[in-house]
Amino acid sequence: MTADGDCINPELTTLSRTPLVAGVPLNLLNTEVMSNDRFYVRNHFPIPKVDAANWSLPVSGEVDTPLNISYQDLKELPRHEVLALLECAGNSRAGIQPPIEGLLWDHGGVGTAGWAGVSLCTVLERAGLRSTAKEVLIEGCDEGEERGASGKLNYAMSLPMEKALHPDTLLAYEMNGEPLPGEHGFPLRAVVPGWFGMTSVKWIKSIQVLDHAFVGYHQTSYYVFVPEGATGDRPNERVTSLRVKSLISHPVRGQYVTAGRVTIEGMAWSGNGPIDKVEISTDDGKSWQEAQISPSPSPYAWQPWKYTWEANSPGNYLVRSRATDLKGDTQPVQTLWNFRGFANNAIHVVPVIVQPMP
Ligand code: MTE
Repeated sequence: MTADGDCINPELTTLSRTPLVAGVPLNLLNTEVMSNDRFYVRNHFPIPKVDAANWSLPVSGEVDTPLNISYQDLKELPRHEVLALLECAGNSRAGIQPPIEGLLWDHGGVGTAGWAGVSLCTVLERAGLRSTAKEVLIEGCDEGEERGASGKLNYAMSLPMEKALHPDTLLAYEMNGEPLPGEHGFPLRAVVPGWFGMTSVKWIKSIQVLDHAFVGYHQTSYYVFVPEGATGDRPNERVTSLRVKSLISHPVRGQYVTAGRVTIEGMAWSGNGPIDKVEISTDDGKSWQEAQISPSPSPYAWQPWKYTWEANSPGNYLVRSRATDLKGDTQPVQTLWNFRGFANNAIHVVPVIVQPMP
């Protein structure tokens, strides 16, 4: 049997082969839409092989009419498209101090893609929500064991009704105009724009409307902010909305550039919608200059930005980027430490060497 990682694009950096976890090198984070073969992959279990012809979507729980929708029928429901970024909650945690638990993501656990499918609310409306509906639980077909959990479990996450009923919360069957690739959730996945990637459940097996708050390993034990010194006697806050963030895709760490004009570029995004400004500092954060930002193509997508640095004096520099969104949220110098280093949006710092002109 081949490992899940055997089929992966060699341009990606593989953090784990089974389950497959692979990130994008920073220098490739430079395009408005990330192609499917360059989109990061984050799996907790081996990739399930699902045959669309034998697959259907059961919708049950607090609904008047339980449904079981075939792949074909799903495609005949009103189509909805969303350009949205997904970022793994653990992205950018490799450098956090004190060290955190978990796979050491550099910065490549992020990408924007065009998703198409059916709004989750369309399916829920057809099933007829009861007034007792409190959360919508989406379960994946993938299963396995997790350290810290007993026995086999499926990957599953719930959404509060407000998020589940938002028209842009999608049951997606297409990614960038193609059927979902196997590693990204074929035949059907959730896409929850504005939230970290963990609720965008892949390989959907079932949807259940609950009259209570869901308790499950990934939702209530894993993707939560565990503060320093936590003893487990009280629930930890769940990871949800994306934070304002920017990354520098050029130059990269340790790059030699020639004195003169140097283009600094990268991407910026926020869970609060479009970015207001991206500022660059090349003097240890003493002064900041505004970069040019490309217009936002969707409230959920990242925005490319660019700044021309007059790097006239050779030497060693730290280049920093800091994004601020329209709500006024801005990137901190340091992230608020939590045990798994989730939601790190600290200012990105890149060491660069400016060498004299030949
Ligand atoms: N869905 C299932 N069924 N199993 C998973 O392991 N991983 C989640 C989410 N959906 C996961 C899942 C996490 S943590 C992230 S960040 C995104 O999928 C990653 O989506 P991608 O691999 O398509 O980039």
